[in-house]
Amino acid sequence: MKRPTIVVHGGAGNWPSDKRGRALRGVRQAAENGFAILKQGGGALSAVEKAILSLEDNPIFNAGTGSTMNLAGRIENDASIMDGTGLESGSVALVNGIKNPIKLARLIMEKTDHVLIAGKTARILANAFALEKADLRTSERLSTWRREKRIFQNGRSRDFKRNSALLASGTLGQMVDTVGALALDSHGRTAAGASTGGMTLKLPGRIGDTAVIGAGLYADDRLGAATATGIGELAIRMVLSKSACDLMRSKTPQAASTQVIRSANSRVGRGLGIIALDRKGRYGAAHSTKHLCWATLDSKGGLARMNGQRVP
Ligand code: GLY
Repeated sequence: MKRPTIVVHGGAGNWPSDKRGRALRGVRQAAENGFAILKQGGGALSAVEKAILSLEDNPIFNAGTGSTMNLAGRIENDASIMDGTGLESGSVALVNGIKNPIKLARLIMEKTDHVLIAGKTARILANAFALEKADLRTSERLSTWRREKRIFQNGRSRDFKRNSALLASGTLGQMVDTVGALALDSHGRTAAGASTGGMTLKLPGRIGDTAVIGAGLYADDRLGAATATGIGELAIRMVLSKSACDLMRSKTPQAASTQVIRSANSRVGRGLGIIALDRKGRYGAAHSTKHLCWATLDSKGGLARMNGQRVP
């Protein structure tokens, strides 16, 4: 029997001081919700889904309610889930108005023959399975969007590449992103889940790492699980989560996390975070952003932090 463990994150970026308390309470609560499933003997997949639901329903995080908006002022959510036992996975991209995109990702995994579905068909599936609809915009996120749009319109970011520099310099002070969860259950099964509104002011139709298996998340019972946060384009180019899982063949989750962030810094740029969990229940967190809001819980206790291993 394994010792069940859950690790969650609420996003890498620059967390403003007035939001840190709420965010830490949010990740702690999500870890508790997911861990409650594991404690009752439930599976890693359900634990991950439960933790992500809690993060999606908490408007402090950029996922589900409170998601950030694209350049056109519209929310386009991405989410994915992966079962490390059979390497089954489901992803959804560009959905709007679905209260919990993680549920749709799981339905795509379990009820279709596909891995990734975007746009119109995703909406049809959500309707067919009677998923709850909601207006996910919050007034707080709307005022952040207006302020950030002014920054972009003032010519301080004229193309997407500069987001990295803006993020690193702290210009986009409120820019935090994505939620994720990893679990190991008592049978040694692993799972990973992730959900996001994506990057503020992204072009309509842009899909980030959260919908891309291997980049935004990966789970394999033989290795462990990992999920990424930050600038999706960088995570996709580094296949960040699968790379971290591969490193866990010989390294601890902390060493694997630090190494993939360090490689990303030198190859594609800064603006990423990752959490990882191995098959022994050991975990790690690393980021090149100012903060990474994350929490973990197992039968020995837990923690909630605004930083992992910072790799500047
Ligand atoms: N990491 C989330 C995104 O870039 O969309």
